[in-house]
Amino acid sequence: MQKFVIHGGKRLEGDITVQGAKNSALPILSAAMLCPEESILENCPELSDVYAACRILSSAGCDCRMQNHTVTVKADSIRNSEIPEDMMQEMRSSIIFLGAMLGRTGCCRLGYPGGCELGSRPIDLHLQAFRKMGVKIQEENGILTCTAPGGLHGAKIHLQFPSVGATENIMLAAVLAEGETSITNAAREPEISDLANYLRNCGANITGEGSSTIVIQGVKELHGCTYRIMPDRIVAATWLAAAAVTGGTIRLLEADTPSMEGILDIWEQMHCQCSYTEKTICFSAGKPLHAVRFLKTMPYPGFPTDAQAIVTAALCTAKGTSVIEETIFENRFRHVDALVRMGADIRTAGRIAVIRGVRQLHGAPVSATDLRGGAALLTAALGAQGETVLTELSHIDRGYDSPEKILQSVGADIRRV
Ligand code: EPZ
Repeated sequence: MQKFVIHGGKRLEGDITVQGAKNSALPILSAAMLCPEESILENCPELSDVYAACRILSSAGCDCRMQNHTVTVKADSIRNSEIPEDMMQEMRSSIIFLGAMLGRTGCCRLGYPGGCELGSRPIDLHLQAFRKMGVKIQEENGILTCTAPGGLHGAKIHLQFPSVGATENIMLAAVLAEGETSITNAAREPEISDLANYLRNCGANITGEGSSTIVIQGVKELHGCTYRIMPDRIVAATWLAAAAVTGGTIRLLEADTPSMEGILDIWEQMHCQCSYTEKTICFSAGKPLHAVRFLKTMPYPGFPTDAQAIVTAALCTAKGTSVIEETIFENRFRHVDALVRMGADIRTAGRIAVIRGVRQLHGAPVSATDLRGGAALLTAALGAQGETVLTELSHIDRGYDSPEKILQSVGADIRRV
């Protein structure tokens, strides 16, 4: 089993080029299944979740190849519209293939996605929407069989919660459906706009992405296109956290600064200095970091839940007491126990965490429990005094492309063994 051995306290300094966004690459890989012609997806991060998505495409009969951060997908014929059970268990976000399979073939058979480390991950909003678009859904022994005998048709869909995945899945099913689909209370995340841009480049008719109302006019067919995946705003936030806890100064290149306003504001509240252009962020750590009195995770453009764990790690040694409310997921404080083992003073109650800043954390043997929780422990270890051994790296490898190489390039003492 691989692990990171980290000796903390090294000030990080230098330039980091931000990787492509996992949460944009996954829905766009699914969307490529809608196009009989070839799509070339550039700036695709090399992650286990991306490899898993390529396996689903291949098992459906697409020709899918990845080389040097570029994925080429050709879906001239879909052999079977089934998402393998092991894939659904391995990667919950495989559910994003349901919309594209329905959009392309009108049917799909898949296992119910397992819950994940963040709590139960229902898909009720996805299924309600598909039923409105003419899909019949039977569930038996945990297997969902979805069919649309008369083909999919447009519908007016209101989401009870601005779910990112549900918004994306509806878009994927609607672009080839008969007629108009409107989504109100749609999620506004930038990855949804990236998906809409890709689909429009393939010939789809979509308006309103990035706002709460998205309207899609179904078209007969989509062609392929060449598309560059947007930069990953959460990975970018992770590198800023690493600089923050080590008193460092870094420059992020190829960042998507406009989508990071909600995150940069928090670093500024912690007395870090940020100056930025459209694609570059110059960042230096506040000395000391200051606590944030109250921080609440919200749907975009609010503070993103995916950045909560890494900001929590940075707040452990901030001056003062911070309170965080996690409003999106029911169980997203699983990194707290390990941070406490490293000397943090954190109390959680339900969706609230109270963090009292301590002078410094110390290294310890810790394990990642989920993707962003693992990133939080990595961050904490970089600022901690002494050696940290971090295991269960498979969680981190789902979302971070060669993190140890990136961190070594700006002075971190980290080894993957
Ligand atoms: C996406 O997950 C991201 N994953 C998550 O990133 C991110 O945390 C989340 O959006 C919120 O921004 C991908 O894009 C692959 P949701 P998703 O549907 O689509 C409830 C990471 O670390 N809900 O917006 O699953 C759900 O239980 C991952 O990269 C329903 O109740 O998020 C949750 O509490 C983690 N019913 C809330 O909505 C539904 O049908 C947000 O879920 C769907 C969701």
